[in-house]
Amino acid sequence: MSSAFFPGDLEQPAPNTSLKPITYALDDTNQPLVGGVNLVELARTHGTPLFVLDEATIRAAAKAYTQTLATAYPGASLPLYACKANMNMGLVKLMEQCGMGLDVVSGGELYTAIQAGFPMERVLFNGNNKTAQELELAIHHEIGRISADNFQDLEFIHKIAAAKGKKVDVLLRITPGIECHTHDYIKTGHVDSKFGFDLSQLPVAIERILEEFRETITLKGLHAHIGSQIFEVKPYEDLIEVMMNIYYNIREQYNGLVLEDIDVGGGLGITYTGQDDPPAVPEAVARIAEKLATYAKRLNYPLPRLLMEPGRSMIATAGMTLYSVGSMKDVPGVRKYVAVDGGMGDNIRPALYQAQYSALVANKVGAPVEETVSIVGKYCESGDILIKGLPVPRIENGDVLVVFGTGAYNYSMASNYNRFPRPAVVLVSGGKAHVLVQRETYDTIIQQDLIPAHLRRVNETSATPA
Ligand code: LLP
Repeated sequence: MSSAFFPGDLEQPAPNTSLKPITYALDDTNQPLVGGVNLVELARTHGTPLFVLDEATIRAAAKAYTQTLATAYPGASLPLYACKANMNMGLVKLMEQCGMGLDVVSGGELYTAIQAGFPMERVLFNGNNKTAQELELAIHHEIGRISADNFQDLEFIHKIAAAKGKKVDVLLRITPGIECHTHDYIKTGHVDSKFGFDLSQLPVAIERILEEFRETITLKGLHAHIGSQIFEVKPYEDLIEVMMNIYYNIREQYNGLVLEDIDVGGGLGITYTGQDDPPAVPEAVARIAEKLATYAKRLNYPLPRLLMEPGRSMIATAGMTLYSVGSMKDVPGVRKYVAVDGGMGDNIRPALYQAQYSALVANKVGAPVEETVSIVGKYCESGDILIKGLPVPRIENGDVLVVFGTGAYNYSMASNYNRFPRPAVVLVSGGKAHVLVQRETYDTIIQQDLIPAHLRRVNETSATPA
């Protein structure tokens, strides 16, 4: 990290480069503490599997964004936390306190933000297939920005805004044709993507806004997101050039039209294992901000407000999952399987993206490594493998396993597969654990189920629906 950007103000580099939360420490019995809370005791008091989030780590990540932008970018800026990474009402309140905006991608995320009382002018609504109902909710609550992904979005916004007599501030999401090196499923900025306007469609979109939708839509800027778990800053610098060249051309072609916002999306990577080497958030954000400032100056373009949408780099490192160790299977000469009480229902990422994680046996930190095992879950599926080849001390039933880096896209992608209740989420800070989301129960699992009347008659096996 370049110290020039922080004259003594940011105490530590952003957490996205570290494996563990920033408050991780060991107590006198060698047991891990996070936020001053003993993880082994936490597993006992709150049960497992358990999602744990370290408040200080989240605050440090938010500060890395807000403060770097404020220092390194001479114009206005706003980092928007990408709620898809992990969301609940308590987290929304925390983001509000941290001075973040929010990027929401569904009616459910939007509703959560509304219910938590988040200032709507700091919310951006993204998504490639927003329904009229979702847009109605957004416009009714006077959301700050809607990123229109396609013509349907523009048409719906126009209709809803016209009916309400409102004018909506809109960004146009574009696919900028930038390739970055990450997993295929989490790449989004390349040309063959389901998201955003293709550059060839952009003039039509702008012209329709300026003519047909001129009473209902104000074009505020363009939006792009090039992918996720990105380890290079260069694709963002390229993105700035591509986007600012488009801004320049729009000003030339449309009567001096100046766009006020530029949204470069999210995507900065984090350290899941010792092999990962992402740029620290302050360094990456400063480079992006400087690129924009110098490039806009070169084009003699007024500095746009810089928006970013970090998800993973805001919250992944703050998160851990605690599991209890259960059964084991030793396949001689092949591998030893150690099963925990969760798995692909609380962390689909290894199965979906071959994602790798680091973990520790929390009640045996410092004990000599005795074997290498594969950590598997308890779901009825062979692909339910969380970690392959984890070196561990002698591992036993009842041990507490802590998996690091699970703050992003674990809880938010969790399912009830096999009808397992989803784990609780707790926030640790100042030696206390605060429940953010309660553990689901078997009753949660069945609460939406209905039994049709004709199936309630136990003796009539051949009954057909009336
Ligand atoms: N903005 C947009 C428009 C996005 O599509 C995304 C992520 C973000 C921001 C936040 O990206 P981040 O900073 O978290 O990388 N489920 C996958 C990640 C999918 C990301 C989808 N879009 C995973 O578990 O790795």
